[in-house]
Amino acid sequence: MKGILLAGGSGTRLYPITLAVNKHLLPIYNKLMIYYSLSLLMLAGIKDIALVVNPHEKEMFKHLFKSADALKLKLNYVEQDKPLGLSHAIMKACEFPEFKDSPLMVVLGDNILYGHTLPVTLEKAKKHLMERGGAYVFAYHVPDPQRFGIVEFDQEGRVLSIEEKPQNPKSSYAVIGVYMFDSTVSEKVKKVQPSHRGEYEITSLLEEYLKEGTLKVSLLGRGFAWFDAGTHDSLLEASEFVATIEKKTGLMIACIEEIAYINGWIDIDTLLKIAKSLSKTGYGKYLKRLAEE
Ligand code: TTP
Repeated sequence: MKGILLAGGSGTRLYPITLAVNKHLLPIYNKLMIYYSLSLLMLAGIKDIALVVNPHEKEMFKHLFKSADALKLKLNYVEQDKPLGLSHAIMKACEFPEFKDSPLMVVLGDNILYGHTLPVTLEKAKKHLMERGGAYVFAYHVPDPQRFGIVEFDQEGRVLSIEEKPQNPKSSYAVIGVYMFDSTVSEKVKKVQPSHRGEYEITSLLEEYLKEGTLKVSLLGRGFAWFDAGTHDSLLEASEFVATIEKKTGLMIACIEEIAYINGWIDIDTLLKIAKSLSKTGYGKYLKRLAEE
């Protein structure tokens, strides 16, 4: 399975901050926002990633991730000429020959997900999909379902419907910005037509799987925290959450070097080398302590 990380878009809900800075490069406490979504792909064991970016921001991302290959990540930069929607971004990534016929995990660059059983949850969905095909959405219990895309499902976790901001929600589970698709995704995404607001919507792609009866949902139960850090308040809330958990536990959330190390992608010498290059920061000291422990 390969990964697509969506870091384009316009970030209008964060104006004026995002007039000059790409949303995914903003800090969530002590790391850039994009680390959190990148870490989700890494936790699912995915190294081969298409990073979808706005053309004028590509160089910034290349600069940020110039040492990504030291973590054994293979980043392919995909320019999305205009932010025409999530399915459009997937379509663009699927133009890369190696992504075309591959199963894909797609993550929105502004989603932050935290939970003890996260790697197991992702691994389970991935295994199911690799064996049986279809697609997976992940859903999170929310107190105000009228504000989200809400999923209705049966006892086997088969999706029956997804409704955007429903007046009468059929469940309290909101679809979050993490998806898994089988290798037919590159063909299915080509069928997506622009919606009334002129965007290639992700829901239209999900409908293709829904029609086939192969769309499943994985529920993120108690003990998970999810943020879409796309507004001023959620940006602050996410930062406060990460700071609280990290200070209480002494463990970092979304430390990409730590995940690469735990996954066995880098050895202790590489970890120490990276720690040394960041030695003035708490981040570098954390990596050093990790290596020593
Ligand atoms: P959104 O939050 O829906 O859109 P946005 O980032 O442009 O922000 P706003 O609504 O405030 O204008 O996007 C969700 C994620 O998907 C986000 O990480 C950006 C990314 N994205 C793309 O990569 N390409 C696109 O065409 C769109 C619409 C979003």
